[in-house]
Amino acid sequence: MTDMKKQNGAVLLTGGAGYIGTHTTVALLEAGFDVIVADNFSNSCPEAINRVEQITGKKIKLYEVDVADQKQLVQIFAENKITGVIHFAGFKAVGESVKLPIKYYRNNLDTTLTLLECMARFGVKNLVFSSSATVYGDENPSPCVETMRTGKCANPYGMTKAFIEQILVDVAAAHKEMSIVLLRYFNPVGAHPSGLIGENPGGIPNNLMPYVSQVAVGKRDKLTIFGNDYNTPDGTCQRDFIHIMDLAQAHVKAIEFVEKNCGLDVFNIGTGEPYSVLDLVQTFEKVNGLKIPYEFGARREGDLPVVWADVSKAARVLGWKAELNLEDMCRDSWNWQKKNPHGINSSRN
Ligand code: UFG
Repeated sequence: MTDMKKQNGAVLLTGGAGYIGTHTTVALLEAGFDVIVADNFSNSCPEAINRVEQITGKKIKLYEVDVADQKQLVQIFAENKITGVIHFAGFKAVGESVKLPIKYYRNNLDTTLTLLECMARFGVKNLVFSSSATVYGDENPSPCVETMRTGKCANPYGMTKAFIEQILVDVAAAHKEMSIVLLRYFNPVGAHPSGLIGENPGGIPNNLMPYVSQVAVGKRDKLTIFGNDYNTPDGTCQRDFIHIMDLAQAHVKAIEFVEKNCGLDVFNIGTGEPYSVLDLVQTFEKVNGLKIPYEFGARREGDLPVVWADVSKAARVLGWKAELNLEDMCRDSWNWQKKNPHGINSSRN
């Protein structure tokens, strides 16, 4: 099986040096796939790829390119036999997207369109797209189901995901030979159990788990919990946190799925279980034997009280479901943070 996959060619990961990309690279290599990474390191670093090589004992073919640069992308397709693509490359900071919408639309749409043109030119038919639960917007009650109407997102980042999903729906309709999967991630957290790779945000983290981890390591004084007056059991928001190792495994299932099928399919990737912000903080304290100083602050604009996934389709069709729980997520996030208190950013040797 492994050898057959290798003879067939490689999977190209755009944005493969990022948080989800590195963990997916590990999972694909361990499943016997050959992987090529294309990344411009705008929000990642070459050292992350060194770490992946350390974990897997395998050499990764790495291209430092901007995926929106057609010439550079064409070169990757010309030099390699690519059988499928997982498209992670894109900007993802919600707050920045509100301030700099043109930058977000330009980058996220350009990378996708350039990639699609390139795939068409080289006859590459299989694509997995890194989408987000954000496409469900604020009009759908949880649990979110793949058949719900999407596209009313609260910010330009979310709209880029919704627009790209629509582009891919149209591409799949026009090109029947294409096989496309949209993976809608809920809240990815955690890290590889080795502590060698993990989430590596620059500046002040926007997301909950990196912020909690940085408080734990002493980089931030305390956590502010945005709102404790929501209509939820403990007053704080509820989310569907999903371990990055489970999420990575979902990409292996998705790439195997696109290789065997045609058309377009959408899958939620979460655990199907909501936990509150306070649940996460208390679990982090318990499993790691630490205190996380926190205070309650005002609600953050744009936050939804409750977001979680119906994950039955992924189980039924992909044969995938999350195996790891909130304790695993908190333990592995802390393991990564304490081993890399300042993240990672040195260059590839
Ligand atoms: N939170 C805090 N304090 C913080 C950071 C976050 O209380 O310092 C709270 C938020 O208010 C929210 C919860 O923790 O209630 C989770 O917030 P995150 O920023 O970690 O995650 P979001 O659910 O807001 O956003 C995530 C991804 C987005 C994606 C969205 C889809 O970061 O990219 O899920 O629902 F679009």
